[in-house]
Amino acid sequence: MGIQFKDVSYAYRGLKVNYDAISHVNLSIEPKGEFIAIVGQTGSGKSTLVQHMNALLLPSFGNVLVFGQNLPPKKKEKINFLRQKVGLVFQFPEYQLFEETIIKDIMFGPKNFKSTESEALEKAKKAASIVGIDASLYEQSPFRISGGQMRRVAVAGILAMEPEILVLDEPTRGLDPKGRRDLMAIFKEIHEKEDKTIILISHDMDLVSEYARRVIVLDEGKVVFDGKKEDLFEHSEFSKFHLDLPTPLKIIKYLSEETGIPYKPLYDFESLSTYLKEVSHE
Ligand SMILES: Nc1ncnc2c1ncn2[C@@H]1O[C@H](COP(=O)(O)OP(=O)(O)OP(=O)(O)O)[C@@H](O)[C@H]1O
Ligand SMILES: [Mg+2]
Repeated sequence: MGIQFKDVSYAYRGLKVNYDAISHVNLSIEPKGEFIAIVGQTGSGKSTLVQHMNALLLPSFGNVLVFGQNLPPKKKEKINFLRQKVGLVFQFPEYQLFEETIIKDIMFGPKNFKSTESEALEKAKKAASIVGIDASLYEQSPFRISGGQMRRVAVAGILAMEPEILVLDEPTRGLDPKGRRDLMAIFKEIHEKEDKTIILISHDMDLVSEYARRVIVLDEGKVVFDGKKEDLFEHSEFSKFHLDLPTPLKIIKYLSEETGIPYKPLYDFESLSTYLKEVSHE
């Protein structure tokens, strides 16, 4: 098992009202091959949940197990080991860039996890090439590149640690449509080539429906749905999740009601357009 939550609750300390940001969460996530989206309204506990996956937060109640290891482990080295295994890309990760050069920034993680200088450099170069950061940029300051490139450098910094599971907290937020597509293509390739489990937090239902197979819905800190995306979007009580339908599904629903085209659940624009071409030739 990759990641397991057993009845996990977490309350931020120091709040006047002491309520659980996540509450009685049970989850099992495979170490390989999953593409999971975590969705829910703002404040529903998504970021709090994923920070438990590499011991940035520890449960107030319940247990988290990562690769069979109970958190927190007794020895500090073991926490480092887990942070290497589960790579977490934060919301707006570019705020955490800080080194003088791009390549140093990407090397920071592997060096911190005991790689030698030359190993770290190799890992950083490999990660930079995966995210499409050209070697000509290595010696530049990470603060003199575009927002989209900064985001890629930050992602490369996590990939350089060669994590087994990749957790992405709204990785495309604030990017333009092309930047969004390009970054998602990178994650998709990592998932397909290396069969890595990817956990993606997103408010963008179009991305969720195109990329994820499994969706976890949070509402006020509770898991209210955990299953196949097909079962979520076709759920008879979908409206109770307070989520938007993905655009391709909205279009096909509208067309089937207005024109009588048979309804077919389609989760991305490519399959929608293929289907519409098919029916228009019939
Ligand atoms: N550092 C903190 N201290 C106190 N309360 C916090 C802290 N971080 C989050 N919270 C509260 O915990 C709850 C869950 O927040 P969380 O950031 O996990 O939600 P989220 O689903 O990630 O939201 P968003 O979609 O806006 O990123 C919210 O009520 C939030 O106000
Ligand atoms: Mg969040």
